Formats: sequence, structure tokens, C-alpha cells
Amino acid sequence: MSGFFIVFEGGEGAGKSTQERHLASSLREQGLEIVRTREPGGTPAAEEIRRIVLSTDSAGMDPRTEALLFAAARSDHVARIIRPALERGCVVICDRYLDSSVAYQGHARGLGAERVRDLSLWATQGLVPDLTIVLDLDPADGLARFAERDRMESEPLEYHRQVRAAFLALAEQAPERYLVLDARDDEERIASTILERVVAALAEQESHA
Ligand SMILES: Nc1ncnc2c1ncn2[C@@H]1O[C@H](COP(=O)(O)OP(=O)(O)OP(=O)(O)O)[C@@H](O)[C@H]1O
Ligand SMILES: [Mg+2]
Repeated sequence: MSGFFIVFEGGEGAGKSTQERHLASSLREQGLEIVRTREPGGTPAAEEIRRIVLSTDSAGMDPRTEALLFAAARSDHVARIIRPALERGCVVICDRYLDSSVAYQGHARGLGAERVRDLSLWATQGLVPDLTIVLDLDPADGLARFAERDRMESEPLEYHRQVRAAFLALAEQAPERYLVLDARDDEERIASTILERVVAALAEQESHA
């Protein structure tokens, strides 16, 4: 595969969507073909699943059901959008991916990181990002950036603290594939740090091609 797969992770309100917009527009200016997508979602079936898992009507859903629905959405998304885009040579920018499942369902809901990761790897036939950008923020600050909350955002602060710790631990395990940034920094500064790292990673990939 000749494309490049970038994922943004981090808690609610950390600035993922904001930074994805910046990165996509900077890379497009350089003439690269960009596919921007999000999880859960990205295909009609996966967006349907998104509606179910994030709805406050699904309060009390068994964590296993939740994990399976996220994995089901991801398999459709990867098979029909992400993998084909990478095969065409696009840069794919995805809002959340496998690490979100590991952090939310594996750690915060207590299903076990390894089991949730294995489920996702099965669902995606082993597709992992080339680079994951973690926007790190105290959950209290992230949640304060919003008034209305979906089902995940309504979880107690302690739940979001476990999610934050999980992202940091994942990044520590494979530092060459992660960029962890303080999400309290100035928006433009974060954007330029991300762009610098991505441009370097693309050049590095090019040199091995
Ligand atoms: N670096 C920053 N400093 C302060 N505020 C920011 C920063 N980046 C984004 N914001 C603001 O924080 C809010 C949340 O940003 P954004 O929607 O990009 O976060 P998100 O991580 O995509 O959230 P969600 O989890 O809901 O998708 C927005 O109002 C945005 O303008
Ligand atoms: Mg967002």
C-alpha cells in the first residue's frame, strides 16, 4: 500500500476535528489527495452504528455489545473506505480508530486492552495507522469546551481519566508511531507541529519507496 494512514486520538473536546481540518487543508495545498473520515462512522452502515452507540437511548448497553458494535463499524469502514483509499495512494486522516476502542472499551469499561485490540485487528485484517496523533488534555478541560454531551461524554470524569491514561500508555509503547501533544497549546502552534511531523514522515516513506 502506498498511501499514508494518520489517526487523531484524544479525549472529548481535545481539538481533534480542529486539527484534522488544519492538516487536511495544508496537505491539500501541497497537492496531496486527502481522505478525511471519522469513527465510528465513515460508511452508511457504520454511521447507523454510530447513531446507536452514541445515543443516550443506549444507556446501560452491555460493554461487550458496545465493543462489538465499534468493531463492526470499523470493519466496514476499513474494507470500504480506508483500505481502498490507501491503495489509491491517498493520505487518510481519520478521527479516532482502534486505540479509542482499547482506551474506552478495553481500559475504561474494563474489557481488557488485549482482547479489544485483537477484536479490532481481526475486524480490520490488521490495519494499523502509520502515525497516531494524541491530543492530550485533562478531561475536565475538554468537557468544559462543550455544553451538550453524548452518551460517552456523559460518563464520569474518572472514566475519562482512564481513557486519557490509556492513550498515553499506548503512545509510550511505540513512540515512533505516535506524536503526543499538549492540547492546551495554541491551535496554530499545534497545527504547525503536526504538519512538520507528517511532512517528515511522508518524506521518510517516500525515501523507502
Ligand atoms: N488548541 C485549542 N485551544 C483552545 N480551544 C481549542 C483548541 N483547539 C480547539 N479548541 C476548541 O475546543 C472545542 C473542541 O474542539 P474540537 O471540536 O476540535 O475537539 P474534538 O476533539 O474534535 O471534540 P469531539 O470529541 O467532540 O469530537 C471547539 O470549540 C474548538 O474551537
Ligand atoms: Mg471532533
